[in-house]
Amino acid sequence: MIKLINNSKRDFCLLNLTDPQLKAGEWDNENKVGAVFKKTVETLVERLSPDLITLSGDLSYAGDIESYKNFADYFDALKIPWTCTFGNHDNQDGDGPVKAVIDEYEKHEFFVFERCDSALGNSNFAILIEKNGKNAEGVILMDTHDRVPYKTDECGKNLAWAGLSSAQLTWYAERVAELKDAGCNDSTLIIHIPINAYLAAARAAFKSPKPDKSVTLGDTYGAGIWNAGYENSYGVFHEPISAYPEDEGAFALIKKLGSTKNIVCGHNHVNNWVVNYEGVRFIFGTKTGTGSYFEPEINGGTVLTVNENGVSAVRHEYVDISSFL
Ligand SMILES: [Fe+2]
Repeated sequence: MIKLINNSKRDFCLLNLTDPQLKAGEWDNENKVGAVFKKTVETLVERLSPDLITLSGDLSYAGDIESYKNFADYFDALKIPWTCTFGNHDNQDGDGPVKAVIDEYEKHEFFVFERCDSALGNSNFAILIEKNGKNAEGVILMDTHDRVPYKTDECGKNLAWAGLSSAQLTWYAERVAELKDAGCNDSTLIIHIPINAYLAAARAAFKSPKPDKSVTLGDTYGAGIWNAGYENSYGVFHEPISAYPEDEGAFALIKKLGSTKNIVCGHNHVNNWVVNYEGVRFIFGTKTGTGSYFEPEINGGTVLTVNENGVSAVRHEYVDISSFL
């Protein structure tokens, strides 16, 4: 397991970015998509001075190695530890392109990564944050693959978004045990595709548990749209949750082991709700930049602050890009 040691007086700042989906040509300084992305990252870095930047998948599109290289050069130049787990677009052409990206990224000084058994996906690894001498928080990144064969629906579709496999859940339990052995009883799971229990979390928290584009970001920071007991939730629900359609057992295991208190996912660009459901914070990370589909208001990243006792707070940080659009 990788260890990050932090002895700063202030809380450790983990900044999660997600779903930039930048193509090689968009890194050009003249390109608006690239300019918005860079402006967003630079604003967040200046505002927050993060101690670790995580990318929760869909950096680019498999095979666009130039774009992936641009990511590595760009983030390494910030001189801040950075890492990623891969999303469906990173994985869409199988192992080969992903392994080429890892080969490239490992040449970069600030890239934090540990290779794993690729039968489980190529981006399963864990980071232990030591805060002022205490093993405070485990950050477990897991690979949620792309799509998997699934029963044919009424539209003739026979693929579903992948979930975490049972072999991955075994791997997860081993990492939690390793963290507990190190005296660390808290962890955050960072994935790309939401686990199935996001559906249950939405049903529990929202008065109207369906996507609703008429609910603005501002509305979500009030109590009005939330069921009793969930009034401290926030964030928009503007598109259906793209999870594996059946319960893969991840949440039951998470609850049984009692380590993971926060789950961060990406994948749905215009959902960024944060709901505490049955003792676990379900977080849709705020999308970073305008690659692929986006909403101008929902641009930025998500911050988890960590003190000696684990994650102390979670919030979204927004960057105004109206002048670019
Ligand atoms: Fe995705």
